[in-house]
Amino acid sequence: MTDSSWFTVRWEDDAVALLDQRILPVEERYLHLRDVEAVAKAIEDLVVRGAPAIGCTAALGLALAAQTSAAKTPEALVADVDVAAERLARTRPTAVNLFWALDRMRGWLADAAAGGASADALRRDMLAEARALVDEDIEICRSLGAAGASLVPDGARILTHCNAGALATGGYGTALGIVRGAVEAGRRVSVLADETRPFLQGARLTAWELDRDQIPVEVITDNMAAHFMGAGEVDLVIVGADRVAANGDVANKIGTYGLALLAHAHDLPFYVAAPCSTIDPNTPNGEAIPIEERGREEVAEFGARPVVPEGVGVRHPAFDVTPARLVSAIITEHGIARAPFDVSLAAFLRASRTSSAGS
Ligand code: MRU
Repeated sequence: MTDSSWFTVRWEDDAVALLDQRILPVEERYLHLRDVEAVAKAIEDLVVRGAPAIGCTAALGLALAAQTSAAKTPEALVADVDVAAERLARTRPTAVNLFWALDRMRGWLADAAAGGASADALRRDMLAEARALVDEDIEICRSLGAAGASLVPDGARILTHCNAGALATGGYGTALGIVRGAVEAGRRVSVLADETRPFLQGARLTAWELDRDQIPVEVITDNMAAHFMGAGEVDLVIVGADRVAANGDVANKIGTYGLALLAHAHDLPFYVAAPCSTIDPNTPNGEAIPIEERGREEVAEFGARPVVPEGVGVRHPAFDVTPARLVSAIITEHGIARAPFDVSLAAFLRASRTSSAGS
């Protein structure tokens, strides 16, 4: 992000500090969370959201569990961290970055404990490891953004959905990382942001952070996308992802699948921006991706006012799955993956494992 006057998630004042995304753009307020239950609730309540940002928050949450544990032995510390990991794993089911970050932190702790470190040394080093994970996430987004910028022509009008920006990551963003990468490469771009019913991540968050960076952005309601594509006012679509299956099927915010179909019908490129931590080799295809169902009030109310008659049911899948055949490319920090995705994504995951083993 070029505007560094704000942050999404960091360790600050012995706490997990989060910008409260529920109240943007009206108010910029940071919460400092000092116990794991508060961190888990913050993820559930969408104080922080977006797959990589959830992963970063969970990593810092486990470090917080270690800091606040009274354990005197490495074994007792590992047990306390395991309890915290189980609670954090129950927050949101779709974004695989959550489970990736929990696994990485627990793996690190198990290795360090086996290496003979004391409980106090583990506590200190685990915090450093979690902070490194957040810093890495920002660097990964920058690499992804630079790789994706090559797909963005000068003057491009880009349609995006939800918020896959600095607010959804450690910083810089994935889909919006590509927008930023294109701007940094000297291209003039403008963004149409879907408002993204029901939580309005596009209207409230994408518009807020692009505006802070002085990148031209206009908000449209979700049902306007076809109109603007039909009118020739969109050149390409870029979205983020919560989980990419091994075959390239993509789970992302509800409404993404519809956009992919529209892009296909209008012969427009449909790009997915996703770091390797969002690619799940253990999920073979989209059907196997768990889709989070959220509460009634997010659909049945608008600004705390009821918009659905009492007693009438609502449906609320928070994500949908776009089949790989509608995806033009998946942009990762290791480059641009194209079909067949089972082959290209597997190669990028190998590259990712090699680079993290070397760091
Ligand atoms: O429910 P949310 O706001 O967590 O959903 C977020 C999205 O769908 C994002 O597009 C996705 O996590 C990618 S973030 C880089």
